[in-house]
Amino acid sequence: MSTLFHGISELRTVSGLGTLSDAALIVDRGRIAWIGPRAGAPAADAAVDLGGRAVLPGWVDSHTHMIFAGDRAAEFEARMNGQDYQAGGIAVTMSATREAGAVRLEQLLLRRLADARAGGTTTVETKTGYGLDVDSEALAADIAARHVDDVTFLGAHLVPPGEDPDEYLALVLGDMLDAVAANVSWIDVFCERGAFDEAAARRVLEAGRARGLGLRVHGNQLGHGPGVQLAVEYGAASVDHVNYVSDGDVEALASSETVATVLPACDLSTRQPLAPARRLLDAGVHLALASNLNPGTSYTSSMAFCVTTAVLQQHLTLDEAIHAATAGGARALRRHDIGGGVDPQGRPARGSLVVGAAADLHVLDTPHAIDLAYRPGMPLTWRTYIQGVQVHPEPQDQSDGR
Ligand code: NIG
Repeated sequence: MSTLFHGISELRTVSGLGTLSDAALIVDRGRIAWIGPRAGAPAADAAVDLGGRAVLPGWVDSHTHMIFAGDRAAEFEARMNGQDYQAGGIAVTMSATREAGAVRLEQLLLRRLADARAGGTTTVETKTGYGLDVDSEALAADIAARHVDDVTFLGAHLVPPGEDPDEYLALVLGDMLDAVAANVSWIDVFCERGAFDEAAARRVLEAGRARGLGLRVHGNQLGHGPGVQLAVEYGAASVDHVNYVSDGDVEALASSETVATVLPACDLSTRQPLAPARRLLDAGVHLALASNLNPGTSYTSSMAFCVTTAVLQQHLTLDEAIHAATAGGARALRRHDIGGGVDPQGRPARGSLVVGAAADLHVLDTPHAIDLAYRPGMPLTWRTYIQGVQVHPEPQDQSDGR
């Protein structure tokens, strides 16, 4: 059954179609079947009037750590009182996560996914990385694979306190990788002072590649380091954080297909300098914006907050920021449109509104999307649709109980 969505004051397609006024689109079996000016729309089986609101692709949150228990509010408050962020806090969340058990972890994930959808997010990646033993990482990957779009194995997040680094790395690349492999499509390594060094990161990336996993790197977050260059050398899909980059790092990224993912909510929460998004874009680097939801450095799934920050403080235009938070995130997950509305694996593309792509829509409660920056912090998401199905607010049950 086809459905015509009309009453769209401004349609930001994040594609070659640009922004359309008084627009409409037709959704058929979860994909966009037609898109253009309202006046030219063909007939459809049903119609939904969006009441003169702005529409953009749902956010593609390409970097989160959604599987965890507990919080680190005291650590955060200490940081706001002047303490530095240190990766060692990950161990606090590791303990809480190991204790939580499967039922609680799944409940927590579902609650976080509902929050993300309420903010217009339609595609989610999550990492494991708060279990850090074989059973706990396997459990996290299993739960995640049932609910999110892309799951990344991050056993190489931190060496658990008291463990030998070489033995732990051997475990990550051996039994742990075996235990998660069926449920993950990506592997990641936190390549940073206090976490994993370059030699260890190479071993993680090589082991992941040998298993056919896509590669990602957490790099250059807390200081200059080898993360960006490693990501480019190994053809990683993304290198995330990139707060401290040299000219050589920027040049390497610009001549590669590796996406630089910037995480402004994390930068603010850790009081790091904001990643140089403007400089990266000007150099021709593929850019993504993501929330980095996690309890240590970025306890928010608000992509709107990231977009607002990117515009107001990182000097992106609204179009650039929306692109980074939709098509840019999709590219970081290799789910972007390569033509005909399909991604490199032939699936409906995410992050762009074109014929053939997934009908993932974010409807704002305003006629113009610039309000994302103009009215910071306001609750602007009106409705979220995934593959043409309304997921926020959950539609009222219309049945009469029969
Ligand atoms: O992306 N950088 C590494 N991992 C997370 C933080 C994890 C934590 O402190 O709990 C991040 O910021």
